[in-house]
Amino acid sequence: MKRTTYAGDVNERYLDQMVTLDGWIAKKRDLGSLMFVDLRDRAGIVQLVFNEKENPEAFQVASQAKNEFVIEVQGQVVARSEKEINPDLYTGKVEVHVQAAKILSTSKPVPFEIKDDTNATDDLRLKYRYLDLRRSVMQQGILIRNRILQATHRYLDQHGFIDIETPDLTASTPEGARDYLVPSRVYPGSFYALPQSPQQFKQMLMGAGFDRYYQIARCFRDEDLRGDRQPEFTQIDLETSFMSAKDIQDITEGLIKEVMKDAVDYDVQLPFERITWQESMDRFGTDQPDTRFGMELKDVSAIVADSDFKVFSAAIENGGQVKAIAVPNGAAAYSRKEIDQYTDYVKRFGAKGLAWLKVTDDGFSGPIAKFFKDADQAAALKEQTGAKSGDLLLFAADRAKVVADTLGYLRVAIAKEQDMIPADKYNFLWVVDWPLFEYDEGAQRWTAAHHPFTMPNEGDEHYLDEGEDPHQAHAQSYDIILNGLELGGGSIRIHTRELQEKMFRALGFTPESAEAQFGYFLRALDYGFPPHGGLAIGLDRFARLLAKRGNIRDVIAFPKNSKAVDPLTNAPTPVSPKQLDELGIEVEKPTD
Ligand code: AMO
Ligand code: AMP
Repeated sequence: MKRTTYAGDVNERYLDQMVTLDGWIAKKRDLGSLMFVDLRDRAGIVQLVFNEKENPEAFQVASQAKNEFVIEVQGQVVARSEKEINPDLYTGKVEVHVQAAKILSTSKPVPFEIKDDTNATDDLRLKYRYLDLRRSVMQQGILIRNRILQATHRYLDQHGFIDIETPDLTASTPEGARDYLVPSRVYPGSFYALPQSPQQFKQMLMGAGFDRYYQIARCFRDEDLRGDRQPEFTQIDLETSFMSAKDIQDITEGLIKEVMKDAVDYDVQLPFERITWQESMDRFGTDQPDTRFGMELKDVSAIVADSDFKVFSAAIENGGQVKAIAVPNGAAAYSRKEIDQYTDYVKRFGAKGLAWLKVTDDGFSGPIAKFFKDADQAAALKEQTGAKSGDLLLFAADRAKVVADTLGYLRVAIAKEQDMIPADKYNFLWVVDWPLFEYDEGAQRWTAAHHPFTMPNEGDEHYLDEGEDPHQAHAQSYDIILNGLELGGGSIRIHTRELQEKMFRALGFTPESAEAQFGYFLRALDYGFPPHGGLAIGLDRFARLLAKRGNIRDVIAFPKNSKAVDPLTNAPTPVSPKQLDELGIEVEKPTD
């Protein structure tokens, strides 16, 4: 016997034909002399029928086989009777009447049931990942990821991009996270760093004249993990010479259009919308806006500056602002208690409270309505916020960053809760014209908003001169956002040594420290370096969004858990004293 087709592909087209199938037993139902078995393979499930009277030998095999045994069967495809048809199944109109069967492999009882809505814990799923991956939803995610990859290779090849690999054992690459380090045996005390991205290498490939590079690149970043971050992840990474930011965005849009068609049969409209970083912050309170729904942030500072409500007027006096979002029909939807819960929620963004007004036909209701009795002011507030009778207005009064975070996150939380987000829509958009630097509140210092190789806007280069304020400079960088998530980002790069040195200085490097860390790269810029730029798309995030999963783990075959551990192999693990000795490493035992 030799497999003739996938179990999940057997439908009416195969009626009356003999097929040979290989797969796993997903389910058995024993009806005396008849046995029904769901046979699963990567294409799906088909129903097998074993009949004791007609094929006693095959029936005997089926009796012995249990769930997750691997079997091979040969049989005839037969139409199911009208009332047996399962319209939810691709194979639901037929079944296979088995004439011969063989057990290829046995299985112990599995630690969790192989079904889509599993309640197995994340770590159990990861420990038995090969079983977890047998589940149909997981297979779908991996297959979509594969479609994205295949379409990417095809499109970029057709557009003259060359696939070039860059090293994993390398020197530190500054993308803003901690490095993963690999100790050198040959040079005890020296370390390779795993790349946070191939950034400098792809730039040097432009210096080498390759003109259009791409790579499906593995990147490593030791950072706090969240649903959209893994310590090792994959980028669709590209770089080009002699192209403008707009050219690079156009190529990327073409790539995304092709991928969306191939992976999920979705037609995207080109070109994507472009908004500036400032507009994104003003309208959505975030640099990765979800534009699938409204409820935008509205600045009401001018209207409430002289308000008797001191929370508002004081915030403006102190150089802050007051903004609001209008929740459609929110007056009835939210009780005072629920608004209090949101007030607690926004404290994590530094908000001191969450003022609110319910909009009525003739004004406002709620505890602070007494401050907004003036008819002109009420009309101005309604006009500026677009609020209608029955809506709920939520206000944040603070410095710009706190207001943006508070209302930006609240906007998304409420939209999710109120089911305002159309599930089948893919909204792509470019956020352009970023500041060159951003203030890192955690580290309390200025860092490169994209990375240190990003070109300032034309005309902004002088901000990097000594004595000027570099934080005024904007950058030729762009992020691509999909449904409120940063999918990718890139920039035009600095290609002269002079400007690159100024950039390092603005980031706090001395000439000596820049030379020590990036001397090789600065030197490369001495030798005829072309103007260039590029971008990288997060493959895992892209696949997660297309597969409609909640965590990028679900579209990575063997990911780490939220503590950066792989429960399957137990990595990271201690190593033998001999290995440490060879590396010249002594480990201090943790002392708790
Ligand atoms: P950036 O750091 O913005 O740019 O990364 C590009 C994209 O990679 C994805 N990404 C991640 N995905 C999963 N887990 C992570 N820990 C993680 N970190 C980033 C995101 C992000 O948008 N060298 C530049 C690109 C360039 O300028 O060409 C870079 O790495 O989707
Ligand atoms: P208070 O006068 O402090 O009792 O606050 C009255 C209302 O204003 C309450 O709903 C608070 O949650 C809200 N509030 C307080 N501080 C702020 C702020 N900075 N921004 C928005 N609302 C606030």
